[in-house]
Amino acid sequence: VSRVPLIAGNWKMNLDHLQAIAFVQKLAWSLADAKHDFAAVEVAVFPPFTDLRSVQTLVAADKLPLAYGGQDLSAQDSGAYTGEIPGGFLKQLDCGYVIIGHSERRTMHAETDEVVAAKVQAALRHDLVPIICVGETAEDLEEHGPSAVPVAQLKAALAGVSSAADIVVAYEPVWAIGSGQAATPEQAEQVAAALRATLAETLGEDVAAKTRILYGGSVKAANIAGFMREPNVDGALVGGASLDIDEFSSIARFQ
Ligand code: G3H
Repeated sequence: VSRVPLIAGNWKMNLDHLQAIAFVQKLAWSLADAKHDFAAVEVAVFPPFTDLRSVQTLVAADKLPLAYGGQDLSAQDSGAYTGEIPGGFLKQLDCGYVIIGHSERRTMHAETDEVVAAKVQAALRHDLVPIICVGETAEDLEEHGPSAVPVAQLKAALAGVSSAADIVVAYEPVWAIGSGQAATPEQAEQVAAALRATLAETLGEDVAAKTRILYGGSVKAANIAGFMREPNVDGALVGGASLDIDEFSSIARFQ
């Protein structure tokens, strides 16, 4: 099975809706100039919720080959949940993906494995592809070794997921996020292989073979090629470097 690599830019809480329009337009131009083959490497951006309508309008008007999605969603579909955004609203804005369980949500917003699992179900109910984030802290790494925590998080997130579901997994060691200290390609491959084995155990070999596993944590143009050479790494979830058009465009070309 060949998996189409995915390069995803998580903007986090950066770029307002006006900046988003200029950014997406310039990113599309930069990729077009570089003759980026979008069928060979998918590129997606994850703007703040308030930008999504602008991004939808621009992508539709200019027929840009970029995918996009939300950085989070509610586990609920509607109701008295002040400040929350349901999957149905993201789907109405033509989002293809939604990031779930990012370590910043887990730590700053107390998202447990159960909440993450409920959000994965919410995404699938609305035909959004969840990008399920897992990763260990430096303490976890010291105490439990490299794969134990990410594997346990993935197993928990997959509770109730059927083998027909379309999902993406992002391995993001917490110690590598925003630190400038990326994992080595070998470290990323070791955990990605363990995550793929977990997918095989829980959802079957076919799902494991077709599911994309991304690496995230201080990815930049200078280190992307090493990750993409690893057999179980199928792309990247990029934070800081996704806010620089030339850098992100280079990452999408693995160079
Ligand atoms: O979602 C993206 C990750 O948190 C990685 O962020 O590339 O700034 O380390 P970073």
